[in-house]
Amino acid sequence: MHIDILTLFPEVFPAFLGHSILGIAQEKGLVDFRLWNIRDFTQDKHKKVDDRPFGGGPGMVLRPEPVFRAIEEVEKEVPGTVPPRKILLSPQGTRFNQSMARELAREPRLMLLCGHYEGFDERIRQGFDFLEVSIGDYVLSGGEVPAMVIIDALVRLVPGALGDEFSTVSESFSEMLGEPPVLLEYPQYTRPREFRGMSVPEVLLSGDHEKIRKWRLEQARLRTCQRRPDLLRE
Ligand code: ADE
Repeated sequence: MHIDILTLFPEVFPAFLGHSILGIAQEKGLVDFRLWNIRDFTQDKHKKVDDRPFGGGPGMVLRPEPVFRAIEEVEKEVPGTVPPRKILLSPQGTRFNQSMARELAREPRLMLLCGHYEGFDERIRQGFDFLEVSIGDYVLSGGEVPAMVIIDALVRLVPGALGDEFSTVSESFSEMLGEPPVLLEYPQYTRPREFRGMSVPEVLLSGDHEKIRKWRLEQARLRTCQRRPDLLRE
């Protein structure tokens, strides 16, 4: 999977992309990220990426020229591969969820366009076939954190990214780990068995894997009912 990230702040990504599951997925060659600075695609001497909105009003708007140039050049950059599925991050987009993550995790190539300032010149939306995605009903100062959220959710679904230990577990618990209906996770415990008067449920110490599996599924359903009944209706 190839992921191109178009942003005005590429320097905020490397630490995030280089660690944990994302870092391992890159080392294993399952995914590769390329960062592109939209400013590098300007052609004026001041490298201007934004401008005041026509009609007045507060804030600045991302100019169409550098964004069009960036998208068109990055698209050509990897010859022989399929055109990327293009994602525009904005609070106006379709709400991101686990089923969108599953769908996008199957794409061989993605391009994420992060905005900043007040928004994008509308012709950017008109010029390309974007999937416009929001990570929730709040306004962030840019699309960088949303891009990281989406990347994190997707890459852990790429086969092999989580390692054997986890994938075997996920097979027996697909209901809890991504197949609809998605359930919230069951309660987890580690050592010690007793901590400040609170003990680990007996069933988890029983060694009876079938009993443990049933208990976990029951707990996951209970938790989902209590905390997020909306997930059961999706
Ligand atoms: N850019 C700013 N806020 C956003 C949000 N909630 N989701 C996606 N992109 C954004």
